[in-house]
Amino acid sequence: MSGHGTPIPMTSHRAGPLSGTAEVPGDKSISHRALILGALSVGETVVTGLLEGDDVLDTAKAMRALGAEVTRDAGGTWHVHGVGVGGFAEPEQVIDCGNSGTGVRLIMGAMATSPICATFTGDASLNKRPMARVTDPLALFGAQSVGRAGGRLPMTVVGAAEPVPVRYEVPVPSAQVKSAVLLAGLNAPGETVVIEREATRDHTERMLAGFGAEITTEVTDEGRVITLTGQPELIPQTIVVPRDPSSAAFPVCAAIITPGSDVLVPNIGLNPTRAGLFTTLREMGADLEYENLREEGGEPVADLRARFSPDLRGVEVPPERAASMIDEYPVLSVVAGFATGQTVMRGVRELRVKESDRIAAMAAGLRAGGVTVEDGPDWWIVHGLGHGNVPGGQTCESHLDHRIAMSFMVMGMGTQSPVTVDDASPIATSFPVFEPLMATLGADIRRG
Ligand code: S3P
Repeated sequence: MSGHGTPIPMTSHRAGPLSGTAEVPGDKSISHRALILGALSVGETVVTGLLEGDDVLDTAKAMRALGAEVTRDAGGTWHVHGVGVGGFAEPEQVIDCGNSGTGVRLIMGAMATSPICATFTGDASLNKRPMARVTDPLALFGAQSVGRAGGRLPMTVVGAAEPVPVRYEVPVPSAQVKSAVLLAGLNAPGETVVIEREATRDHTERMLAGFGAEITTEVTDEGRVITLTGQPELIPQTIVVPRDPSSAAFPVCAAIITPGSDVLVPNIGLNPTRAGLFTTLREMGADLEYENLREEGGEPVADLRARFSPDLRGVEVPPERAASMIDEYPVLSVVAGFATGQTVMRGVRELRVKESDRIAAMAAGLRAGGVTVEDGPDWWIVHGLGHGNVPGGQTCESHLDHRIAMSFMVMGMGTQSPVTVDDASPIATSFPVFEPLMATLGADIRRG
């Protein structure tokens, strides 16, 4: 889909206390990868707990367009009959990745070393986002691409007929870029090496190993050196998608700022490359506990218990933690407004090229709601007003960005006056049950 249809204005009123259990949906990053790696295996991959948000559904459509059979049974289990590494067919139509940067970048990587041509497009947000960060390394494999000015979608990629393996140091901290190169490396003979200075989410590495690829990660002075041996036969898997810590962030933060709240968010993955927000909240003095900490499928998992936390303190978030909470800064900035003192966030340039410029979008809405925010190219500072003192009463623009919309809905739960977003429809890309789930907890979110 390229657009979100009619805008859905939404207003969050002071409510609470929030209580009960928040069963958040499956992990978006792992859901995309389950479909793509399933499509590159020979045989049937079975996926339960897949996130059925628009982003992932667009990736499912793309896998069908590239020749895989992807179906959902009546029980909600997904079945992917893959075509094998190098087995993608040329799509007959343009591939529309909707709002999803992860979808388009990973799929470009996965097809770039096959002798096929594909044209990609997306919605107004995705078509503004930079793609050269992916097409530059794909060119080293022998793929060609042509798109709009500045490397923007729509864009056509001609896969390399005789790909060569590459050694590539990722210039920005981006799991999407790393993953695109690794997926391209699957169909190149020999060893593809990706080096990342800062650790980003490692789902691609873990899942490639799970599907039977030969892949190693070495931590050296250069950073993390990931080596993949090309042209494996990937073995289909049965995948249980864990719940998304990035979605868990919303009920957790809502409970922390809403008086009297006590919310349980069960089965959340605490992979260290994803859990930076929870560490930061605890440093701020949030009442957030990890209950029933355990290991599932090689990953740490816990039930999160979040309670209202009236005495939050502003903190300085270490820049080296940025990659592990990159999608959570918008909602952290809301919590920071309810803390006393400054919350300083540095080393976050990447926030400016997400579904929206997330620093600009959050700063504008927070300022309109009475919170002072300073910002620069790769930093921002929120001056907290303390619990009970945030005026609110503003209407914010979501800029086609699900996390901006949900962050402002959380803000309205603790402000003196309600908070409105102009368009909450993008929430369907990652958290389609946000509205009913928050209502069950006791939130007062209304359309209009
Ligand atoms: C993702 C990587 C991150 C993140 C996005 C999901 C992934 O993007 O913001 O929501 O699944 O690889 P970048 O790679 O651009 O940092």
